[in-house]
Amino acid sequence: MRQLAGLLSVWLLAGTYSFSQNAISYDASQHVWQIHAGEMSYVLGVNDKKALQTIYWGPRLEKGASFPTPKQLPETASFDPGVATTPLEYVGWGGGLPYEPTLKISFPDGNRSLLLEYVDAKVNGDALEITMKDALTPIYVRLFYQAAPQGILARWSRVENRGKEKITVEQAESATWNLAPRSTYELSSLTGRWGAEWQLQTEAMHQGTTILESRRGSTSHQTNPWFAIASRGETTENAGPVWFGELGWSGSWRITVEQTQAQRVRITGGTNPFDFSYPLAAGESLDTPKFYAGYTAKGHGEASRILHRFQREQILPQRPTPRLRPVIFNSWEATEFAVDEQGQIALAEKAAKLGVERMVIDDGWFGKRNNDRAGLGDWNVNPEKFPSGLKPVIDRVHALGMDFGIWVEPEMVNPDSDLYRKHPDWAMNFPGRPRSEARNQLLLNLARKDVRDYVFSFLDKLVSENDIAFLKWDYNRNWSEPGWDVVPLDQQKEIYVKYVENLYSILSDLRKKHPKLEIESCSGGGGRVDLGILQYTDEVWPSDNTDALDRLVIQDGFTHAYSPNLMMAWVTDVPNFLDKRVIPLEFRFLAAMSGSLGIGGNLNKWSPDDMSTGTRLTTFYKQIRPVVQLGELHRLMQPEESETNAVQYITADRSSAVVFAYLHSQHYGRPFPTIRLEGLDPAASYRLTPLDAAKVTGLPVERNGSQLMGEGVQFNLRGDYDATALRLERIR
Ligand code: DGJ
Repeated sequence: MRQLAGLLSVWLLAGTYSFSQNAISYDASQHVWQIHAGEMSYVLGVNDKKALQTIYWGPRLEKGASFPTPKQLPETASFDPGVATTPLEYVGWGGGLPYEPTLKISFPDGNRSLLLEYVDAKVNGDALEITMKDALTPIYVRLFYQAAPQGILARWSRVENRGKEKITVEQAESATWNLAPRSTYELSSLTGRWGAEWQLQTEAMHQGTTILESRRGSTSHQTNPWFAIASRGETTENAGPVWFGELGWSGSWRITVEQTQAQRVRITGGTNPFDFSYPLAAGESLDTPKFYAGYTAKGHGEASRILHRFQREQILPQRPTPRLRPVIFNSWEATEFAVDEQGQIALAEKAAKLGVERMVIDDGWFGKRNNDRAGLGDWNVNPEKFPSGLKPVIDRVHALGMDFGIWVEPEMVNPDSDLYRKHPDWAMNFPGRPRSEARNQLLLNLARKDVRDYVFSFLDKLVSENDIAFLKWDYNRNWSEPGWDVVPLDQQKEIYVKYVENLYSILSDLRKKHPKLEIESCSGGGGRVDLGILQYTDEVWPSDNTDALDRLVIQDGFTHAYSPNLMMAWVTDVPNFLDKRVIPLEFRFLAAMSGSLGIGGNLNKWSPDDMSTGTRLTTFYKQIRPVVQLGELHRLMQPEESETNAVQYITADRSSAVVFAYLHSQHYGRPFPTIRLEGLDPAASYRLTPLDAAKVTGLPVERNGSQLMGEGVQFNLRGDYDATALRLERIR
């Protein structure tokens, strides 16, 4: 009977694991799982030491592919034991592991060694769950694998203390990803700083460790939790292998990329172990963030498109079909803190004439907020600026046919605020130590339940009492003095986890209670963009840098990791506040149109000509918006490489496309390079509609797809800051 049950369960398992578009198959005889997600397959198995070993990560495998039970690799020298030479999926620190562990625990008796062994596994649709256990203690780890049809595998883990004694987790990463030995790996990352986020860096990999991380308490401008590993000399924008991934975590994080002595690559990522420890009492568990990864053989362009599709269909709150982002007006660069009822109504009236759909009042509307020295924390409408509350402005905005949004910075407090005077203990601090201010503000300790509840309740009240469609949720400093003295000493470092969990829970509860509310994640620009916050927010503010020329580079970098519909981009005034550069209005519009269009200039100063240019281009944007926001992006020419760049968006069914071409600065009378389009239906005819016929040379009304991709299009751009757009519609 027992034997029959065993056979039955093997049969049931095998039955579940049929090959579908996106499936998990299990070879019980070899103890090997094949996970198929889009173009990618990922294979792992239980080896002869009961450890979980990575077998394969690459192009999708067809039915018939099979793998033997993996074996721990031999030690290559007495200095390099099997645990170092073998590509392990999730490895505890112990056994002489000289590389990054996925999990490190210290036990009350001083033991810090962990030997994780396979216990069992179950498959449910596209999900695989594997349980591992320490060989000697009741410490269990459940490993989760979730395959998505877009070609992404999500991995995360749950560390469970099923014993009686309290243990301390010193490092709990989400996953380790392994790449086979190769000498040509190159690593791309996105680094930067305030006003200069999303700078793409690519470097040859060699033996050693590269750490991508934030120790700042949040995602950071410094590095985004994204990586792409390609093959030098082989991978381009349109061809060659790319293994890529990103984390879903908005706190301090780390991705450690190691090339081992055997030229294998290990990528281990999750919450940052720096200044971290997390006690687990009997029965307690700790979940790690999700670490998402994919593979393509079609170059960096396709890697980006896979991520874009995945974000829109699987991550964003309005998944799988996020609605089109409205054209917004934002008051910040126009008025800064000097917002008031009359001024905002005047701007709203002008914005409506341009075709704006959402009016957003930025900083300055609450408390005693006349500059950045006071008011944060006092979320009551400033009675001098808005004597009758927000209602008159909101009513006028609605009457003008727009919806209304407002800026908040819920996690912060100015020492000069009623909130701080009442609750100085709510600010993150180490008792008795100076509290470091940045932009004159301190962080509220959101890990505290009372603080979390206060933040939720004021936001809920604000949104309940006013007809607010959109919150721009800002966050303008990093952490310092991350103390949490009201919990026992050994729990104080849990702040790194609890803070982020509470942030997510506020966002989630707010959205549940106000299902129509949309939210932008802003952190002084692009300081908090990651797949964690994006589960609760509809768009992001990629940078405070609104100079159109810098912005082209920023936007190019951004799209390596995130979808264009997330990328709010404003047209602002010149000279630009940061670079003092003067760029014509049409170029500024065309730069902003390659994401979600917004307008942030002082419309009171716009001339009738500016207004008519703005109206014409906003109308044009609305025509192309579905293609830009929900289509497939092709970076035809990248801005950091030359004085020109071009991007193309095309719908998944290849029926509509739009191309933007930008000339930054002409030299030596050089003609604008011919642009070959991509991803069209080669056999189809397309109708071409230029934004400005004079800027496209010798353009027929119709042209065949293969010709547009082979011969290309010649744009007639001249001088400095010239730009244009071209629409394509398939006609047969
Ligand atoms: C930083 C944001 O990035 C800006 O857009 C603006 O909202 C300011 N904060 C307001 O203080």
